[in-house]
Amino acid sequence: VRPVQSVGWSADRRALRILDQRLLPGEVRYRDIASIEVLCEAIVTLAVRGAPAIGVAAAIGIAVAARATPHSDFPAFRRWLETTLPHVRSTRPTAVNLAWALERLSRAASAATSVEAAVGVLELEAQRILDEDRAMCEQIGRHGMLLLPPNARVLTHCNAGALATAGIGTALAPVYCAAAEGSIARVYACETRPLLQGSRLTAWELSRAGIPVTVITDGMAAALMARGDVDVCLVGADRIARNGDVANKIGTYALAIAARQHNIPFYVAAPSSTIDATTVSGRTIPIEERSAVEITRVVGEFPDGIDVWNPAFDVTPCAFVTAIISDAGVHRPPFDFAA
Ligand code: MRU
Repeated sequence: VRPVQSVGWSADRRALRILDQRLLPGEVRYRDIASIEVLCEAIVTLAVRGAPAIGVAAAIGIAVAARATPHSDFPAFRRWLETTLPHVRSTRPTAVNLAWALERLSRAASAATSVEAAVGVLELEAQRILDEDRAMCEQIGRHGMLLLPPNARVLTHCNAGALATAGIGTALAPVYCAAAEGSIARVYACETRPLLQGSRLTAWELSRAGIPVTVITDGMAAALMARGDVDVCLVGADRIARNGDVANKIGTYALAIAARQHNIPFYVAAPSSTIDATTVSGRTIPIEERSAVEITRVVGEFPDGIDVWNPAFDVTPCAFVTAIISDAGVHRPPFDFAA
């Protein structure tokens, strides 16, 4: 079974086509998006999510909206693009792939002198971003599978699989590659409170691909490690600072601490587009805080008016990271991702 395609173009290339991840695992429904407002809503509500997929979706979404824009004179089109890019960028602050993709679109369009030419280069650049993401996933898979022992038992968090990229994923890329050689015994997927990307998405895409997967709640990970049931931890990233500090889904830091306590390697897999050499350390990575409702609605038994803190990400200090697997290879500490 080929990993699922979560983001791309519609057949007539007039729309962005995404797999609506809010409906998974119950329903597999693709949605076509052709306007900036719907694109932003899809990103904010996590219909499309995962750092690389957000970047690809934004690039294609802007390219198709540019083709449909009513502006026929170039200065008006330019102004439209200049307000649209920061608007889309503001939807989610932590995953740097979004800003990275929009910066590429901006640079590509800067040399154009007509609406037609600008739309053409935006489409071309969006296609490149998609193709490169797919290729980077393959490379991560090839490099990362060499770090896995035979019959590996892998613990992962959130979803850094095909659903989160245009290709076979980042953290799950080595898993797919090793599984193709019969070398994955089991993946443990942390449920990932509060939006359940682990149980809803990772468990869905892995079981669909025939890879044995067991879901645990986030609080069970240390106990599983203590039992000796985990060979490696393998997670994705939303932004990696120059010094190797890693922003990823909330709960990642706790996993890294538990892995250190149990002498289990803690690997982070991410494409070059996730490495932000301009951010010196994790301390300045903006952490998205989301609505309290995401936490309180699940059980529906919270006392009225209770305070809730809902950061979507945390920062794992580089000291807890055994290696970072990128498309360029395996990076070991001390990390220094110079621009
Ligand atoms: O809030 P999400 O679901 O977009 O968070 C996703 C993650 O934290 C992933 O681990 C990360 O984006 C890497 S995806 C290849």
